[in-house]
Amino acid sequence: MFFDSHAHLDDIKFEEDRDVLIRGLLNRGVACVINPGDTIESSRAAIELAKSYPHIYAAVGIHPHNVESMLDSHIEELEQMASYEKVVAIGEIGLDYYYDNSPRDVQKRRFVDQIELASRVGLPIIVHNRDAHADTLDIIVENIDKIPGGVMHCFSGSVEMMREFLELGFYISLGGPVTFKNAKRPIEVAREVPLDRLLIETDSPYLTPHPFRGRRNDPGYVPLVAQKIAEIRGIPVEEVAMVTFQNTLNLFNIKYERDGSSMDTFVYVLGDALYINLTNRCTNRCDFCIRNENAGVGGYNLWLEREPTAQEVIDLIGDASRYSEVIFCGYGEPTIKLDELIEIAKAVKAQGGKTRINTNGQANLYHGENIAPRFEGIIDTVSISLNAPTKEEYQKLCRSEYGEDAFCGMLEFAKACREYVPNVVLSVVDILPPDKIEASKRIAEDLGVGFRVRKFVEKQDMA
Ligand code: NI
Repeated sequence: MFFDSHAHLDDIKFEEDRDVLIRGLLNRGVACVINPGDTIESSRAAIELAKSYPHIYAAVGIHPHNVESMLDSHIEELEQMASYEKVVAIGEIGLDYYYDNSPRDVQKRRFVDQIELASRVGLPIIVHNRDAHADTLDIIVENIDKIPGGVMHCFSGSVEMMREFLELGFYISLGGPVTFKNAKRPIEVAREVPLDRLLIETDSPYLTPHPFRGRRNDPGYVPLVAQKIAEIRGIPVEEVAMVTFQNTLNLFNIKYERDGSSMDTFVYVLGDALYINLTNRCTNRCDFCIRNENAGVGGYNLWLEREPTAQEVIDLIGDASRYSEVIFCGYGEPTIKLDELIEIAKAVKAQGGKTRINTNGQANLYHGENIAPRFEGIIDTVSISLNAPTKEEYQKLCRSEYGEDAFCGMLEFAKACREYVPNVVLSVVDILPPDKIEASKRIAEDLGVGFRVRKFVEKQDMA
């Protein structure tokens, strides 16, 4: 599960769908969010959100953009707000010399005022610093004895600058910019930052990670930041998720306990596609199934405590057209939940989205009838894991509950799908010996369907 350490869910851009979005985060793999304030009003709004949702925490503070109109009485107001138990930091505060929306001397003075506030209330600070590295550093150094810890939010500085803040005990938070195509410094920072000082964030609604740049950001995209950092460091994303989660709890002194609300991951983003995790049930017990070893993929925990309804998934998907594909593929066989699958696929197609099912091809055996006609007009691709070129080998590898009939049933299913689905593909993994890959390819050719050799480690294609 992921912790988005910085998102502005009180922003006007969430006006239309805030409640649905926040409730849905848990089922998109994001367990917690800190919502910092940038004005008195938004600090108040942040607290309201923290009161309404168990997985939202608030920070209160006035952003350097808005300090020109800040009054001394605001400090008292913030101090009062800070006494609420789910206010975990003073922020976001700092300096912004890029926009210079407030005079620099005012920015500096109010930054110090709010550091002193943090000191009085004993809360860490969330620091915004844009093109003001030297002054930010100076102010922090001068006041370091008062500061009860902090984070450089959406850090955009160099590795050298990072080291200075690390030495002062600060955490470094990375957001969407690390995923941008032209990113340089954030990538160096992601490589060099000690893992025990790293946080992740979205800074939503801004700075949407690649490949969704240009659209509204929301905390559901924070896994893309973690996935990119994992890739840069060559470590599993699960490790980035776990470590940054724990770091956030540590810095902000949050006593996190899993509450009664659902933490099941029903949908998750990998690359530019959205995946749907409908069930953990499967008619196979494959030797190589990644479920045997891992709790999930891409840092998401895919074990479910309950299965979602179609409507829940439709709500979580939101605008389906923003994804390259919506793929039914989780820790289980999606066609077992056929009615839900059909209803969801219809909703996706109605929005102009593309649909794919990754399946073991045993749907007709499971349902006792030919279900392929139901895919007509709503499923674009059916990708069936052939896995082996003979029924004996298949059964040895996949241990289907239908025994050796599974293989034949799968081929019949592929043939049936061909009538109703534009793109039907049989796939094998690349660890199969070349002669078996060749034999598998001939099976696909004989059936008149596509063929694909997929990488064994290509985790998202485990079905
Ligand atoms: Ni922010």
